[in-house]
Amino acid sequence: MAWKKTITLKALEKAGNTSVQVGDKVVFIAHSDGKLYAMDGVCSHARCILGTLVQENKTVKCWCHDAVFELENGKMIEPPYVAKNAPMEKLGLKTYEIRESGGFVEVDLPD
Ligand code: FES
Repeated sequence: MAWKKTITLKALEKAGNTSVQVGDKVVFIAHSDGKLYAMDGVCSHARCILGTLVQENKTVKCWCHDAVFELENGKMIEPPYVAKNAPMEKLGLKTYEIRESGGFVEVDLPD
């Protein structure tokens, strides 16, 4: 694992959330209630890029088929509407450590 620089904290605070390319990985990052969050930015269902914060900024909804993931732990809590019987426990997203450093948001990602 290694800390990777993404966007400025100021830009993330203004946007609230975004998906960013970090090397060969897409990471969803968010700033909610004064806390930073990071998770895989590619949906586990059909690989759409996430997404938007919903439910008082505690969950992330995929644009494509409305699957919903918990921001805190990446767990899928609503399945894609096109795959209601999808095994949600297997479709959760990986979360990552995230921090502010020198005005930038950094995420601890695999090398
Ligand atoms: S690609 Fe995300 S719900 Fe289908």
